[in-house]
Amino acid sequence: MDDLRAKYLSRIGDASDEAALEEVRLAAIGKKGEVSLAMRELGRMTAEERQQAGPRLNALKAEITSALAARKAALEDAGLEARLAEEWLDVTLPGRRSGRSVATGSVHPVSQVWEECTAIFADMGFRVAEGPQVESDWYNFDALNIPDHHPARGEMDTFYMARADGDTRPPHVLRTHTSPVQIRAMQETGAPIRIICPGRVYRADYDQTHTPMFHQIEGLALDRDISMANLKWVLEEFFSAYFGKSVKTRFRASHFPFTEPSAEVDIQCSWEGGTVKVGEGDGWLEVLGSGMVHPHVLRAGGVDPAEWQGFAFGMGIDRIAMLKYGIPDLRAFFDSDLRWLRHYGFGALSVPTLRGGF
Ligand code: DAH
Repeated sequence: MDDLRAKYLSRIGDASDEAALEEVRLAAIGKKGEVSLAMRELGRMTAEERQQAGPRLNALKAEITSALAARKAALEDAGLEARLAEEWLDVTLPGRRSGRSVATGSVHPVSQVWEECTAIFADMGFRVAEGPQVESDWYNFDALNIPDHHPARGEMDTFYMARADGDTRPPHVLRTHTSPVQIRAMQETGAPIRIICPGRVYRADYDQTHTPMFHQIEGLALDRDISMANLKWVLEEFFSAYFGKSVKTRFRASHFPFTEPSAEVDIQCSWEGGTVKVGEGDGWLEVLGSGMVHPHVLRAGGVDPAEWQGFAFGMGIDRIAMLKYGIPDLRAFFDSDLRWLRHYGFGALSVPTLRGGF
């Protein structure tokens, strides 16, 4: 029995795969295996012999069975390790490209128009100012002469940030316009000042011409004697440079809490043939809000209204991108559809400059 034990334990240890292991199992404890045959012999033994041999044979069978199971588990583990080593894959590698084409990205129309606007206004002496997208309600509303309960707060479809339970301070907001940057810029440098602020803004609104995140460009010019006439010249100069032809503008009296007087500005366009053509025809399209900065707003920015005055304006970047590049649906701007991006996108090296033209 010791011979059987030594022989089979060593053969189990040597089995290098599951098929070899199965062969060992059959030879030892299969129906015609050596251990099984020996157990059959028990019937022919005397009672004393059986009492001796029976338990020892049973113990041998049990030992072989558990050695088989242990070896099987070890072989399975080794197999898994081998597969893991063999089928290893670096998921951080860049994808394979077919053929000669090297995939290049394109500049999004919003980025392109953002740069175009910056270049045009920079040429007129405006620098770029920035502010946070999560804004306090003071900067987004109060400082712009929109007090609590003013109807303009309700009209803006504002996204409010959460406050901790029990914190009764007014919640921060996702800025609903770029106008709060006027206040921040005035606080930083005082007057005189000439800034534009391109940036992201947020309102809870979604249809063909509205997305919950969109882009505006804010302008602010303060000095001792800046007037509406300067505003008109700057905007006409801007639109003509931007659209590459002379574009008539129309100023309509309007109301904004942060300007007095206020004007909405339309640009000339034609609607013929179902598409909008800027700078032609006798139709009008509203593109921005503007006016002379309200004394309350100057004061909120730390600027003395007895000494300084000037204009401000705000316009939609996405809007004027759609107009210039004939893009019909605003929602597609933010779908990240590669076909759309390739079609409407711009080459990374065609950086907009006044000299190069747009
Ligand atoms: N903040 C306004 C809006 O989002 C746009 C605007 C109007 C900005 C008049 C101005 C302004 O600076 O003077 O609708």
